[in-house]
Amino acid sequence: MNQLDDDIVKVLFTPEMIQERIAELGQEISDRYTDSVPLLVGVLKGCALFMAHLIQQVHIPLEIDFMAVLSYEGRQQSNGTTRIIKDLDFVIEGRDIILVEGIVDTGMTLGYILRNLQARQPRSIRLCTLLDKPARRIIKLPVDFKGFEIPDRFVVGYGLDFNQLYRNLPYVGILKDDVTGLNRQRQKTW
Ligand code: IMP
Ligand code: MG
Repeated sequence: MNQLDDDIVKVLFTPEMIQERIAELGQEISDRYTDSVPLLVGVLKGCALFMAHLIQQVHIPLEIDFMAVLSYEGRQQSNGTTRIIKDLDFVIEGRDIILVEGIVDTGMTLGYILRNLQARQPRSIRLCTLLDKPARRIIKLPVDFKGFEIPDRFVVGYGLDFNQLYRNLPYVGILKDDVTGLNRQRQKTW
């Protein structure tokens, strides 16, 4: 039990469900890269737990790097303004890149990073996200490796935050309306 459990209205994915899906994703990635060492680029901080577990399920040589961007500036939704606050350590020209995200919502954050990295002329870039909220997508993105699709609700846990909290929950759950004041205004499909 965690004190934060009380703020969760519904658990969507238990730690076991997450691990099971990550094992499958790890296999898909292992099968896809046969002639190169991919560089997995995690988008901080939401990717942290996912990245840690995912790389242990990829059974080919790989490297990791991280990036951090600020896209929300205190809001709960993107407004299109994004800037890099931590850039990659490595040069990626000619490399096979896998961008690893915790969740894709409007797609603005990942779209921005994708354009930025493409300009550095990698050999390929594929997208990997644990969670995908397709209902709110504004920027169309090809997601190559996807853990789960989720409905249009604000979720936390397993690295994902609300105002920086809840990242330490081992599961993914929907936050109560009175915590966010957000889900109330959204379509209840779950
Ligand atoms: P996008 O730019 O709208 O795709 O937003 C992506 C970012 O928004 C993610 O990296 C998360 O940091 C955050 N985000 C979007 N939806 C949620 C959610 O339901 N829970 C927690 N964070 C979210
Ligand atoms: Mg966040």
